Amino acid sequence: MKRHQYQPDALIEVLHKAQELFGYLELDLLLHIAHSLKLPPSHVYGVATFYHFFALKPAGAHTCVICMGTACYVKGAASLLSTVEQMAQIQAGETTADGQLSLSTARCLGACGSAPAVVIDGDVMGYQTPETLGALLTIHVQSPGEEEAQ
Ligand code: FES
Repeated sequence: MKRHQYQPDALIEVLHKAQELFGYLELDLLLHIAHSLKLPPSHVYGVATFYHFFALKPAGAHTCVICMGTACYVKGAASLLSTVEQMAQIQAGETTADGQLSLSTARCLGACGSAPAVVIDGDVMGYQTPETLGALLTIHVQSPGEEEAQ
């Protein structure tokens, strides 16, 4: 904020930097930014929730992003998404209760030639099927039965 002279129009840059520093944007942090930039807290909260790249909760230990862009969608992205949702028992935008996996969607990963594509822990992986994606995630996702057994 200091680098931007506390200018209100630097809000998006400030939110990016804050997320980079803290991993996610918790409410107290948003209030601090709103106060420092002299913006209404509702405006800061609205911006933070509007853009999908801002997270208001800590991410899981592992992340899975499923591309729902046109190229991926026509090649079966919806079945990839439902596979992960069933495996992890979460919806897109959520993190498993054990904090192991965060699931989200994207509009295009820039890998349309290898559709359908996903990003797991930052690595783009194309030509996925429900079976290959399920196998990839097996090491990351703990079934509820296993969790209860612990
Ligand atoms: S539409 Fe999925 S990578 Fe472009």
